[in-house]
Amino acid sequence: MIRTPIAGLRDQVGETVTIAGWAQTLRLQRAMQFVIVRDHTGTVQVTHRRDGTAVESALETLTAESAVRITGRVKANPVVSLGGLEVIPETVTVENLAQAPLPVDARTGQEGRLDWRFLDLRRRGAARLVFAVQTTVERAMREFAFAEGCTEMHTPKLMGTASESGAEVFQVGYFGRPAYLAQSPQFYKQMAIAGGIDRVFEVGPVFRAEPSFTSRHTTEFTGVDVELGWIESVEDVMSFEERMLAHVVSAVAAAHGAAIEEHFKTEVTVPRVPFPRLTLAEALSLSRTSAADSGRDDLDPPGERAVSARVLAKTGHEFAFVTEYPASVRPFYHLRPAGQPHLTASFDLLWKGLEITTGAQREHRYDVLLAQAAAKGLAPDPMRWYLDCFRYGCPPHGGFGLGLGRLLMALLGLDSIRDATFLFRGPNRLTP
Ligand code: 4AD
Ligand code: MG
Repeated sequence: MIRTPIAGLRDQVGETVTIAGWAQTLRLQRAMQFVIVRDHTGTVQVTHRRDGTAVESALETLTAESAVRITGRVKANPVVSLGGLEVIPETVTVENLAQAPLPVDARTGQEGRLDWRFLDLRRRGAARLVFAVQTTVERAMREFAFAEGCTEMHTPKLMGTASESGAEVFQVGYFGRPAYLAQSPQFYKQMAIAGGIDRVFEVGPVFRAEPSFTSRHTTEFTGVDVELGWIESVEDVMSFEERMLAHVVSAVAAAHGAAIEEHFKTEVTVPRVPFPRLTLAEALSLSRTSAADSGRDDLDPPGERAVSARVLAKTGHEFAFVTEYPASVRPFYHLRPAGQPHLTASFDLLWKGLEITTGAQREHRYDVLLAQAAAKGLAPDPMRWYLDCFRYGCPPHGGFGLGLGRLLMALLGLDSIRDATFLFRGPNRLTP
């Protein structure tokens, strides 16, 4: 029989249907058996008066979270608190009896929930909503990127040399020599630009060997990367990103705004473009709380939160681009604005106090790039293949990298990236 989603039962009153889901709660009384069945769309009460049949014995053996398939008649019953509906079972098939007791309950902490992530997801609608929202986010990103002329690429995650710098990279064995897991598609998306692919879009895994235990760091995350050829300045990159995010947030608000409000108590606010822009120097002076605080040349997380709070208070914007980072805190390949060799044509994007993106115009002139690499103490030989991209006619270009988990954290107001990730990976966690 065709399976009816539980959310669709309201339209089937009086009909015989088959539902399939999990026994969420069982109340097996002397005369009556009540089972709340949950599927991915909702919950419904199954009501059975004991009659000595196979239905009675099947319901009697059930344990919480057992997988069941039930055929029965849908009945409107105003007494039933769960939506005034019940299913009167005619057949009950136990597909998989859950062992008891369950390893998680309402008091299980975060680590326990991560250990039993499939049960955590199944039992909490909010945990599953994250991935419905993620799906909408990715679809809206692709829609926007394709409309802007991007080609979706898939770059290698195994590399013979570390991308960007060597510090945060995982080494793996590769037929008797070391290989490295890509910590960014950076060099390859630039190679695609050099390859004449005008605009590049990629969603893929990113690996970072950072021993960080914060709420916003993970060792493997999904990165959204964009690279745009023939730009006039880094402003073209920021303009692309803010318009993309306005499209994404508006798609999420339309599809999930009410559910997000209900489950996460977070209002989805569609941003106006352009987003506010402020230089790092301005951001640092906004975030400084005391004179002793001066002398820093990058924003720390409390500084990012302070900047976002000030921008929100002044402009009503949840987003803020911070620009003009000093060359000392940026990679060698970021372009330096003309006449300002100590600065970079780069930006971070903050959303509600969290860095969700770093982007920049890249240095596309071979000799300048070589000099900038040398100034950072980088030897050209291991990245010869990258540098070669700039020897045979590479256009001006720039792009950005955005962490999907970070974006979901800000969008949904989640406390930890662990809740924005299907299966979290951290220094102490490689399972499940
Ligand atoms: O800021 P990041 O390191 O920049 C780059 O990778 C550049 N290649 C991007 C570019 O095009 N210039 O990483 C980009 C984004 C960050 O802003 C953040 O959202 C996310 O990736 N990110 C992380 N997310 C979770 N855990 C981590 N350890 C992350 N590191 C970066
Ligand atoms: Mg960054």
